[in-house]
Amino acid sequence: MEMAHSTETLAVHAGREDFSALGVHAPPLDLSSTYPVPHLEEGIASLDAFVEGKASAVNPIYSRLYNPTVANFEKALADLEGATDAVAYASGMAATTAALMATRILYGEKPRNHVVAMRPLYGGTDHLLSSGLLGFEVTWTNAEGIADAIRADTALVMVETPANPTCKLMDIEAVVQAAGEIPVFVDSTFATPIFQNPLEWGATVVMHSATKFLGGHGDVLAGVLATKNEKWAAALRQVRIVTGANLHPLAAWLCIRSMPTLPMRVERATMTATDLSERLAKHPAVQAVYYPKADDPVLQKGQMKGRGALLAFEIAGGTEAAAKLMARVRLCVPAVSLGSTDTLIQHPAGLTHRVLSPEAKEEAGVTDGLIRLSVGLESADDLWADIRQALE
Ligand SMILES: Cc1ncc(COP(=O)(O)O)c(C=O)c1O
Repeated sequence: MEMAHSTETLAVHAGREDFSALGVHAPPLDLSSTYPVPHLEEGIASLDAFVEGKASAVNPIYSRLYNPTVANFEKALADLEGATDAVAYASGMAATTAALMATRILYGEKPRNHVVAMRPLYGGTDHLLSSGLLGFEVTWTNAEGIADAIRADTALVMVETPANPTCKLMDIEAVVQAAGEIPVFVDSTFATPIFQNPLEWGATVVMHSATKFLGGHGDVLAGVLATKNEKWAAALRQVRIVTGANLHPLAAWLCIRSMPTLPMRVERATMTATDLSERLAKHPAVQAVYYPKADDPVLQKGQMKGRGALLAFEIAGGTEAAAKLMARVRLCVPAVSLGSTDTLIQHPAGLTHRVLSPEAKEEAGVTDGLIRLSVGLESADDLWADIRQALE
């Protein structure tokens, strides 16, 4: 948008600038898989533009190259992230894969096959990197070890903050400084653009599993990357065209539909999460609570503008006790994923982070007694009554 607006206003209006000209108020949904090409020369020029990684062209040609509904969602997300470009994919994992593959285009003739990554990461991301599937060797390190871990063939430094599942915060600016010339990828899914804008702190590309808070209602699978770097933006679009990991327009439409309420949902759920974190900390069955502290330096410096709607806690009795807790909840839904309107409770060691090796689990702090809670929009008292009865 042209004028500088607050996040709340952007959430309502961004990506909708062309609606008046189109004569619509609600977001239009374009399900076309192909588009007529009445003028072949225009078609040829458009195709060439997309192959070069351009965001749009005179003729959309084919929905894998361009879709206006997906473009509306991308525009909205880019504005919210303070990015010039956003590129949406079929899922968060498809987006992360695209970011890694984009480095193949960006480093061209001299491919770089090494990644520096910090744990904890979402289990699927950890698995993608550890599996070597994409041909990248990974050095796992912590904030202090980044500079030493970087090699001549390092393509990307990858970090997730707040991290899944322990909600550990990382100082993005410090990571960027340690990474030097190497681009930094930040998975900001837990924060949402409401609480954190990683590009502002020097990250090259920010990623969201839009399946979570951006979709917000547990009914969409989506991923998105945003950047201010023109070359990265082009490469990300080129990867999408070639691999076909496109976001379906209906999924994009659901994400646009959810955008105006994003700030309210995130802020309200955060208030409840803060309340529950305090009540959990006082419960005798709870050994530890993992929730960003109000005086965490990352919050203090303004990188994170809120503590977030996710928290984790440790109970005695390992997997057996976790299984009992998940079977006993009546209001919280025992399910993976997060960022929905309802509260979801899950066991990272058994579910979201199950694929990790024992060493990786230990490094990530994923113990058998760890429970993760994605706080929804229910009342804090009702949620606490449910969790308390399940704990007792
Ligand atoms: C932090 C984080 N990043 C990435 C992903 C992967 O996203 P998706 O499931 O949309 O592929 C998830 C999914 O749980 C996640 O929690």
